[in-house]
Amino acid sequence: MGFDQYHEPAHELSAETRTFARMVASLTEEAEAIGWYEQRISVEPDAQARAIMQNAQHEEFKHFAMDLEYLTRRAPKLRVALKGVLFTEGDIVAAGESAEEAEEGVDD
Ligand SMILES: [Fe+2]
Repeated sequence: MGFDQYHEPAHELSAETRTFARMVASLTEEAEAIGWYEQRISVEPDAQARAIMQNAQHEEFKHFAMDLEYLTRRAPKLRVALKGVLFTEGDIVAAGESAEEAEEGVDD
């Protein structure tokens, strides 16, 4: 990925913002890996190869979760949004709308 996770001059960004951007890039990479494994697993005819890739994909789930948790600890509104949407039942869009309203009461 190089340095292209920054959209502003890196030297103008605080260390905290650079770390946040790195973790967002990492989250994106973990999500991509999850999707790539999903595709590979779906077409792989060899059961042992499929099992290894499934094991690897499970690792990526953990990496994704850790990256996301890191980010939510540094972005209070993101945390509120996730609390309002994740692990809920029913209409996801409605949960998102409610979560967005809940964000309004939280400082950045
Ligand atoms: Fe990973």
